Amino acid sequence: MKKGLLITLEGPDGSGKTTQINLLEEYLKEKGYEVLKTREPGGTSISEKIRDIILDNHNVKMCGMCEALLYAASRAQLVNEVLKPAIEEGKIVICDRFVDSSIVYQGIGRGLGVDRIRSINEAALDGLCTDITIMLTLPYDEGLKRKYKQKIFDRLENSGEEFHKKVFEGYLEISRKCDKIKTVDANTSIENVHKDIIQIVNKFLKCN
Ligand code: TYD
Repeated sequence: MKKGLLITLEGPDGSGKTTQINLLEEYLKEKGYEVLKTREPGGTSISEKIRDIILDNHNVKMCGMCEALLYAASRAQLVNEVLKPAIEEGKIVICDRFVDSSIVYQGIGRGLGVDRIRSINEAALDGLCTDITIMLTLPYDEGLKRKYKQKIFDRLENSGEEFHKKVFEGYLEISRKCDKIKTVDANTSIENVHKDIIQIVNKFLKCN
């Protein structure tokens, strides 16, 4: 039996996930929950090394399938080393991106196919399911505009406008198809987005 909870945040680059994750963590801790915050790709020392390979701008030759398998490998380690034990201990885990990022970025953005990405990740997830997936929606060009302010782009951010447009449309497509994914409009103030997120989380906590 699952004791804790897995909350994942999704959204295009620049949608403000990190800010919202920090606010959600603070909110849940104040309510007395034990919270663990982590991110993908990364979250363990092995997964962080894989992250460096994936996002390295020098790896121009990396093919889509290699990229998809590296994300899945990083995920397998995170699931095994961090997520499953924390959930077993009754913690609320908040993960910055998870398998839906692979569905959208690699399955749709890179055109590898949603079913293929799902089957690769079935092994990586080893039966673990998310409880709540919150998807921040933001026009892709708005997200990139926000990112431009950071100056240095990683390999994924450097994948071109067409790719990011596909990612944006991919997110909308999967959120329409899956009831578990709750969308939140990120094209508004930080406070409004936070309010919408805690409403979704509180509703889930009350019902379970
Ligand atoms: P990151 O700097 O964490 O981006 P963000 O702050 O926007 O979350 O870099 C992660 C990048 O990896 C991001 O561009 C999305 C991409 N990604 C995938 O393509 N597939 C995946 O499975 C995951 C987890 C991330």
